[in-house]
Amino acid sequence: MAKRGVQNFGGSWTEEKLASVQKYLAAYATIMQKQKFKFAYVDAFAGTGYREQKIQDTTSSESLLVSALAGEEPQKFLDGSASVALKVEPRFDRYIFIEKNETRFKELEALKSNFSDKAKDIQLINADANTFLKDFCNKNWRSHRAVVFLDPYGMQVHWDTIKTIAKTKAIDLWILFPLGSGVSRLLRRDGQIDQAMKEKLNNLFGEEAWYDAFYEKKKQQSFFNDDSTVEKVANFKSIEKYFVNRLKEIFPSVAPNPLPLYNSKKVPLFLLCFAAANEKGGPTAVKIARDILGKT
Ligand SMILES: C[S@@+](CC[C@H](N)C(=O)[O-])C[C@H]1O[C@@H](n2cnc3c(N)ncnc32)[C@H](O)[C@@H]1O
Repeated sequence: MAKRGVQNFGGSWTEEKLASVQKYLAAYATIMQKQKFKFAYVDAFAGTGYREQKIQDTTSSESLLVSALAGEEPQKFLDGSASVALKVEPRFDRYIFIEKNETRFKELEALKSNFSDKAKDIQLINADANTFLKDFCNKNWRSHRAVVFLDPYGMQVHWDTIKTIAKTKAIDLWILFPLGSGVSRLLRRDGQIDQAMKEKLNNLFGEEAWYDAFYEKKKQQSFFNDDSTVEKVANFKSIEKYFVNRLKEIFPSVAPNPLPLYNSKKVPLFLLCFAAANEKGGPTAVKIARDILGKT
């Protein structure tokens, strides 16, 4: 049974994802503390702040003790992205955690007591991330900067939200793109994608041109008719390229090497992508992100 206040998700790819973002936040805060800007960390799919992981090694004394005391399967309770960010040094000026699910949102409250030195700078928002971010981004960013982390389970991020982030010219964006977990599965081999699923993909890519990029028309000549069918030509690499190019259309700097996050069957569930909205700071930001993504 899951302990209250933690979420059960991910495997070692979750570790990779969080380690990459953590490294970036530390590098970012080190640079920003020497500048005149107030800077925030915005976690738009914050979860509960913590997560749980089944302990694989059931013979270790630690796991045996845990399970003996709890009377359940051995588990470890680990930091989620929110608590990872709160531990980063140097610290950020402000932390904004958004979570739509009410139960999970209530659990986020614990961050304020667990990080009491930062409690007054933690803002908790129980809302849809897309709605909140549009409003948040439409502020005056002259003396403010932020890192936004979009870490959805699936295809919940709308392209309009990404566009609004880019328009601030002040935000560095980390985003989890649902490559194998969402997009690739929706792209049926025969191209017969139902309208609701098409809308989801339109929302994610911000245009309909993906269909022509991912499918090729094939003419089938028969004696009486010239029928045409479509065939899927997209693969993981071409979908990745398409999304990175979309980011490049609206951000001045984008990391060219998103990190594929594989499940145990070696399917790239997600791509961890990075883009920077500020013309001046973008190249440095991408250099740091590119190194992190290349090494993780
Ligand atoms: C993968 S989990 C986040 C994990 C978290 N970043 C961590 O590392 O601990 C995704 C979270 O997004 C929340 N969520 C889903 N749709 C949302 C939306 N439209 N706006 C805000 N939160 C949403 C889910 O309830 C879930 O808690």
